[in-house]
Amino acid sequence: MQVIRIYYISLSGNTTNFLERLDHYLQKELQEKLDYVNVKDLVKNNESLEFEIKEPYFAFLPAYLEGGNGVTTGNIEILTTPLRRLIAYKKNSKYCMGIIGSGNRNFNKQFCLTAHQYSEEFGFPVLDEFELRGTEEDVIRISNRLNTRLIEWRYSSELVSYRLLPNMTPHHMPHTLRHSHHIKDGTWEKLTIWSGKIKIFELRENGDVLRECTYDTSNQPPFIEP
Ligand SMILES: Cc1cc2nc3c(=O)[nH]c(=O)nc-3n(C[C@H](O)[C@H](O)[C@H](O)COP(=O)(O)O)c2cc1C
Repeated sequence: MQVIRIYYISLSGNTTNFLERLDHYLQKELQEKLDYVNVKDLVKNNESLEFEIKEPYFAFLPAYLEGGNGVTTGNIEILTTPLRRLIAYKKNSKYCMGIIGSGNRNFNKQFCLTAHQYSEEFGFPVLDEFELRGTEEDVIRISNRLNTRLIEWRYSSELVSYRLLPNMTPHHMPHTLRHSHHIKDGTWEKLTIWSGKIKIFELRENGDVLRECTYDTSNQPPFIEP
């Protein structure tokens, strides 16, 4: 069984609960297993956060921001800084394949903000988000997301490009990309942003928006799954 390494923070137990369910799902459905370390436990046990991580991992991070009204203020990180210290140590950020943010939608624009701040600071993608303990739909989607990212990380030099589209601009973009479309099984779509920004909407089968995310040159979209 393949082991996926996770460094995360959980203070009130929501993220730990989510990871337990994710681990259960991955073992049952995808023959993969999580090895998850709550960085707060390292702090509690007086263990050093200055160690080098030499294997790829994912980070899971709930937002804990001080004060703020959820709109214009309140973006000072509190309580989760030990994970930042670990990631910032030597080359540890280079092994992070991506971060999954969590939070509470009552915080409006601050929802999952810390994960986005880490992404901007360290240059790895925000792969997904969930609220509080997450739903079963979140567990399934995020399992697939981790899997796709692992494939991308491991095999990106071996993946074969079967079709390359010409560079696009807002005025020259294929109709299919402007509207909802499926990607064939066994294939992934890779977009590279050369300048400007793009907003990608992920839709449920019924067309409802599941998630929207904006990418730019310093925050490139991850592979888009079948
Ligand atoms: C003091 C405090 C500040 C918080 N700030 C935010 C925030 O800015 N944005 C957000 O989305 N959630 C915020 N939350 C909600 C937590 O991220 C959320 O409850 C999360 O599920 C906690 O994860 P944990 O139980 O694994 O620690 C805050 C919670 C607390 C207690």
